[in-house]
Amino acid sequence: MLCCCFLWQVAAAEEIKSPNGKLTLAFVLQNDGVPTYRLTYKGREVIKTSKLGLELKNAAALTSGFAVAESKQRTFDESWTPVWGEVKTIRNHYNELAVTLTQASTSRTIRVRFRVFDDGLGFRYEFPRQPKLDYFTIKEERTQFALAGDHKAFWLPGDYDTQEYSTVTSKLSEVRGQMKAAVTGNASQTTFSPTGVQTPLMLKSQDGLYINIHEAALIDYSCMHLELDDKNFVLESHLTPDAVGDKGLIQTPAQSPWRTVIVSDRAGDILESKLVLNLNEPTKFKDTSWIKPVKYVGVWWEMITGKSTWSYTNMDNIKLDSVDYKTVKPNGTHGANTAHVKEYIDFAALHGFDAVLVEGWNTGWEDWFGKHKDYVFDFVTPYPDFNVPELQQYAASKNVKMMMHHETSGSVRNYERHLDSAFQFMNKYGYNAVKTGYVGDIVPLGHHHYDQWVNNHYQYVLEKAAEHKIMVNGHEAVRPTGLARTYPNLIGNEAARGTEYESFGGNNADHTTILPFTRLIGGPMDYTPGIFQTKVSALNPSNTSFVHSTLARQLALYVTMYSPLQMAADLPEHYNQHLDAFQFIKDVAVDWDATRVLEAEPGDYITIARKAKGKSSWFIGSTCDENGRTSNIKLDFLDPGKKYVATIYADAKDAHYEKNPQAYAIRKVNVTRKSKLAQYCAPGGGYAISVTEAAR
Ligand code: NOJ
Ligand code: CA
Repeated sequence: MLCCCFLWQVAAAEEIKSPNGKLTLAFVLQNDGVPTYRLTYKGREVIKTSKLGLELKNAAALTSGFAVAESKQRTFDESWTPVWGEVKTIRNHYNELAVTLTQASTSRTIRVRFRVFDDGLGFRYEFPRQPKLDYFTIKEERTQFALAGDHKAFWLPGDYDTQEYSTVTSKLSEVRGQMKAAVTGNASQTTFSPTGVQTPLMLKSQDGLYINIHEAALIDYSCMHLELDDKNFVLESHLTPDAVGDKGLIQTPAQSPWRTVIVSDRAGDILESKLVLNLNEPTKFKDTSWIKPVKYVGVWWEMITGKSTWSYTNMDNIKLDSVDYKTVKPNGTHGANTAHVKEYIDFAALHGFDAVLVEGWNTGWEDWFGKHKDYVFDFVTPYPDFNVPELQQYAASKNVKMMMHHETSGSVRNYERHLDSAFQFMNKYGYNAVKTGYVGDIVPLGHHHYDQWVNNHYQYVLEKAAEHKIMVNGHEAVRPTGLARTYPNLIGNEAARGTEYESFGGNNADHTTILPFTRLIGGPMDYTPGIFQTKVSALNPSNTSFVHSTLARQLALYVTMYSPLQMAADLPEHYNQHLDAFQFIKDVAVDWDATRVLEAEPGDYITIARKAKGKSSWFIGSTCDENGRTSNIKLDFLDPGKKYVATIYADAKDAHYEKNPQAYAIRKVNVTRKSKLAQYCAPGGGYAISVTEAAR
């Protein structure tokens, strides 16, 4: 330990570097006992001196008056194999500094643990078990991220209950001015401040440093937002409050999630970073053979667009106990009926999909937003026209899995009431994956989607599901923080604005050039790409929305939006009209041995190549913004000495996401690792390529 008592303003200071020496983390205890840290990358300031600490309810703050009791350093280096992922093995290599701090006036001790990787920093608070700090309530966490300037930011308004905003791209100094517009027309529920933003927050400095701030291993803690001091460009943690405004009930021993700062002067490094996963614990699951990446279709887009309905009747504001579905009049538009689901199963079987998701199969949808939502779903009672055993048998006979859907309508209480029987039902009828949903206000009322208590619910569902060997894809649940390393049955999350919004007014054309830099930093997203009929009016004449993407770019998303769970979201009849393009969705892998980010600039374009798990084939995807561009790539990642055939699915010259989205051209070319490609991408467009070894 380097003791700097001779410097008047500093009580103690210590530095560690990343394994490659490019990042330097300095911990400095100021002479009033305020813990601070600082981060540099190649000598450039990433995080200027920033304060650490927490304020407690009805107790002295843990923000000052500390002395360093102990400080320990170590180096860690391991490689681990994810159950599914973007790469075959992940290196977890960091230098660590753990500083134990004692507050003499209160006899309390906390520890700050820093890990410096080649791609960034993680740090967390640890609260050892001790007499003077056994139970406490967090009033607010006071972790600062002091930035070096007025960076360009890719941000979402801070909100305790939705992450489904369009991303705003602006300077930090413009956040306040743009907040109102960012919220207007979006599904805001509890926006809390004119400068509060969500994480993962993507930033770019004027001199070209890419910085991403998020959190890792969010367990038994409230989700972090960031409050911006837009004069000094200091971000500070703002935790999600519970129903009475508290921000966390802690019993020691305990720790906070990791606070993460990924940094590089190359944008692609942010996308390739595994820092958030590495800060999560290895899985404790002994058997993971039941966890499998999934490519699926579903009875879904037709309801999202308004062509058919989740509900079976047109009844309104019903009290479920008093309804006998067998005697009420059906509305004639119910999507999840046995005959129709069989068509999807046939389509899945014909084209080699693993599973069929069916939404609206169970009773209660008539009132899922209504007064009785605390009791509306029991997750085991099908509508009269949905025959569970018959469909189980039919799907099994075609080697297709049925995917369960549990919309909770935000009633955590009701879901927990039924969870055991719901999972038993799934086991009985052969369902091995569930899509959950939390639309609407949380019940118990007053709680928020991202507070500690509700985060504990998502965790409970995940662990219970694992006991039943069930994979989980949570919609409207808290944004992921790399927990899938520990709980690999978390194969998907929504937690951002997905394709569904293309039917609710649309996503910005640059949306998918941003999401991998923001939302996907925490884990895979169930984005539900693959919409070929981009005009929603083709399904529902009264819906004027359209998909802000060309058809070719819809293919690219299977590569650029990494997920072990990928949906072909459009209707079979639309795929049947473009079977040549559909071939890419059939072929593309959902699990990978290698990933290379070939080109990337947040908000502008992303081009990624991935090697299929256990195979020699590669898939490439490229997505660009509303301006269009020519992508220039080298195929130097291919094996030396091998010959390949590349099938290129590209925008036609006159393609345009709004005016001419379905104009595409498919061509085959012979390639080797020496090949280069200059490929045109239309406005809101992109391309997809499958590269397979040529027959000898
Ligand atoms: C919102 C989800 O994101 C969507 O996928 C689902 O279909 C609806 N809720 C209904 O549960
Ligand atoms: Ca949603």
